[in-house]
Amino acid sequence: MRPRIADYPALRFRRLRRTPALRALAQEVVLSPGDLIWPVFIRDGKGMEEPVASMPGVNRLSVDLVVKAAERAAALGIPAICLFPYTDPGLKTEGCEEAWNPDNLANRAIRAIKAAVPEIAVMTDVALDPYNANGHDGIVRDGVILNDETVEALVRMALVQAEAGADILGPSDMMDGRIGAIRGALEAAGHKDVAIMSYAAKYASAFYGPFRDAVGASGALKGDKKTYQMNPANSDEALRLVERDLSEGADMVMVKPGMPYLDICRRVKDTFGAPTFAYQVSGEYAMIRGAALNGWIDGEKAMMESLLGFKRAGCDGILTYFAPEAARLLRG
Ligand code: PBG
Repeated sequence: MRPRIADYPALRFRRLRRTPALRALAQEVVLSPGDLIWPVFIRDGKGMEEPVASMPGVNRLSVDLVVKAAERAAALGIPAICLFPYTDPGLKTEGCEEAWNPDNLANRAIRAIKAAVPEIAVMTDVALDPYNANGHDGIVRDGVILNDETVEALVRMALVQAEAGADILGPSDMMDGRIGAIRGALEAAGHKDVAIMSYAAKYASAFYGPFRDAVGASGALKGDKKTYQMNPANSDEALRLVERDLSEGADMVMVKPGMPYLDICRRVKDTFGAPTFAYQVSGEYAMIRGAALNGWIDGEKAMMESLLGFKRAGCDGILTYFAPEAARLLRG
């Protein structure tokens, strides 16, 4: 039980809001560059920096330039970078074989970054959508997304990513049983220290639109992802998914998208106390950036307020396209 607080005028909340010094003393949560994971889009070629139309300020980078980006991120104190490949449509198949090609774009980028900037953690995306002729995260047969066949493919994909030197694997596919299968395969192959950040509570969201443009999956996707991604109306289910993924060997869990799901972040953190992350997704970035570019909001302030909200909701860290910009501001 809390003691009863004093009444006005003994209690005036404005006393501690009067000056920056008093506000700093009374501040409950802080945001720092160490809380940020930077998602980046990669593409083939050399010296390529290609703007993503629906995400102003975000580019697809060729491997040589993503290495430079990783160097800048490390210098800013950003602990991790997360790679998303834009795959040549010619490499997309129904079987998604390119996903476990040891020399695919993502694996080449992992090796290049780990060779040049070993101190930054490299996180991957474990899902078939960039490689799938159907645009889905799973293997499709007769219009049905197959769970167990997809898990087998994801295991192959995870193993080559670990082999390439990934520090954190990010299964984002929402198939059942994938965390246990990947964890078992990693142990058996001697990759005992590769971490898994499970996209445990990933909702079927309209806020992923710009991302699908960025990785070139929008055109390919037939239908929607509602048979594997979560119903936005559900909250208890998120807790059951997180519990399941932690029990199967996830080291960290993620809630995605971010801002419309801060209640889920709080419940997950309070219930399990596990390392909890939120993904401020492409549509969230586009809304803030788009409004700022139109002069409708102060973009920097809105960015920082949105990121602080994740810390207040109990998150240990945030995946955000704003990472370098936010880190620069936080470092003054
Ligand atoms: C797919 C994947 C998606 C995102 C990350 N991994 C999109 C989807 O599920 O369709 C979205 C990220 C974002 O919108 O920024 N494996």
